[in-house]
Amino acid sequence: MTISLADLRRDYTQATLSESDAGAEPMSLFAHWFKEALEAKVPEPNAMSLATVGANGRPSSRIVLLKDFDARGFTWYTNYASRKAQDLLDNPYAALTFHWVELERQVRIEGRVERVAEAESDAYFQVRPLKSQIGAIASAQSQPIANRAQLEKQYEEAALKFGDAPVRPTQWGGYRLTPDIVEYWQGRSSRLHDRLLYTKEADGQWLKQRLQP
Ligand SMILES: Cc1cc2nc3c(=O)[nH]c(=O)nc-3n(C[C@H](O)[C@H](O)[C@H](O)COP(=O)(O)O)c2cc1C
Repeated sequence: MTISLADLRRDYTQATLSESDAGAEPMSLFAHWFKEALEAKVPEPNAMSLATVGANGRPSSRIVLLKDFDARGFTWYTNYASRKAQDLLDNPYAALTFHWVELERQVRIEGRVERVAEAESDAYFQVRPLKSQIGAIASAQSQPIANRAQLEKQYEEAALKFGDAPVRPTQWGGYRLTPDIVEYWQGRSSRLHDRLLYTKEADGQWLKQRLQP
C-alpha cells in the first residue's frame, strides 16, 4: 500500500478560542485546558516535549511528564546528569509543547528553568512506585551501556541494596520552568486556527495578543 503523506490532513472543527475565554494571565487557561484533556481521556495528557539548547547551540527535544503546575510554573523530574540537564546547565532556557490531539489543541511554553527544592524532589520520589524508584537509582540516564543485561544487573544490584526503602539519589530530581511566553492554539476550520500568545513584560504584566495562524 502506498501512503501519500501529502493527502494526510484533517479539518479542525471541535472548538474555538476567543479572547474572552482566556484570562489576563496564562495559567488559568492552562488549568482549564488540562482539566478538559483529563476529562476527554487524552492518552498521557501530561506528556510534553521539552526542548533544550546546549552550549554548541544545537536544540534537542524529548518527551517528559509534567508532574506539577501552579503559579510558579511547570515541573518535571529527571536525571541531573542527563543530556537535558547538561544543556540546562549551559543554557537555563527551555521550551515545552503539549499536543492534545483529540481536542485539536497545542500549548507552547517558554521560560527559564531551575531545579526544584531538594525537599520537593524528596517528596515526589517517595510517592513514586518502588520499581520506578529503583530504576532511577540504577540508570545513569543518557550514558552509553554495553548491553541490556548490564542495565538489568544494575537494577538488580540497586534493588538488593535498597530493598523496599530506596533513598532519592542526588542526581535525580525536579526542574521547574517559570513561563514568560505561553501560546494557546486551537485548531479551526480552513486552517484559520485560533492562536493567543501571552508574553510577560518587563513590569511583570502579561501582554495578550492574537496571532495569525
Ligand atoms: C511518554 C514518555 C514520557 C517520558 N517521561 C520522562 C520523564 O518524566 N523524565 C525523564 O527523564 N524522561 C522521560 N522520558 C524519556 C525521555 O524522553 C528521554 O529519553 C530521557 O529523559 C533522556 O533524555 P536526554 O538524554 O535528552 O536527557 C519519557 C519518554 C516518553 C516517550
